[in-house]
Amino acid sequence: MREEDLERILVSEENIKSRVAELGQEIDAFYEGKEILLVTLLNGAIVFTADLIRNIRSPLWLDTLRAQSYGSGTTSSGAPEITGDLRLPVEGAEVLLVDDILDTGNTLSRVVAELGHRNPASIRTCALLDKKERRQTDFEADWVGFEIPDHFVVGYGLDYAERYRHFPYVGILKPEMYS
Ligand code: IMP
Ligand code: MG
Repeated sequence: MREEDLERILVSEENIKSRVAELGQEIDAFYEGKEILLVTLLNGAIVFTADLIRNIRSPLWLDTLRAQSYGSGTTSSGAPEITGDLRLPVEGAEVLLVDDILDTGNTLSRVVAELGHRNPASIRTCALLDKKERRQTDFEADWVGFEIPDHFVVGYGLDYAERYRHFPYVGILKPEMYS
């Protein structure tokens, strides 16, 4: 059984689906048909990104980056390392960075700063989940799917030690699974 490692489901499949459709519409309304360079952060954002891009009608290029801050624990190391690089040019592009969850804010603010050096026309950010209470920077995303309380969550791309990414919903992991 999938659910046995979870305390409870926090965001259901249905709620994710309808919110992701709304996000697609909001993003389209913002870009007004301009071409988007969507940069997704591996591995956590892949499930969200796969659904989100099918709700975006603007022309879109897709590229990937990897930013690692967690190792296999549940608390951020604070200094995410960006590994790998984009294949597509950032200069002059309308960049939309997509991540699974905004927690301390270190990852997205670091990647925004890094890509900002390459002269994009714009950089915007979108995160499925936002744990506002845990923020260590004043970073806010332009689009957020759901604000959630401070629990360690898994599913819909989010992992604990690379597990649970395939769950179709977001659930709170039982603390005994990582303590
Ligand atoms: P930040 O740099 O602290 O904002 O953390 C962002 C990254 O931490 C995300 O891309 C996730 O990979 C990871 N993360 C933060 N909170 C959680 C969680 O509750 N479950 C799984 N991964 C998380
Ligand atoms: Mg991640």
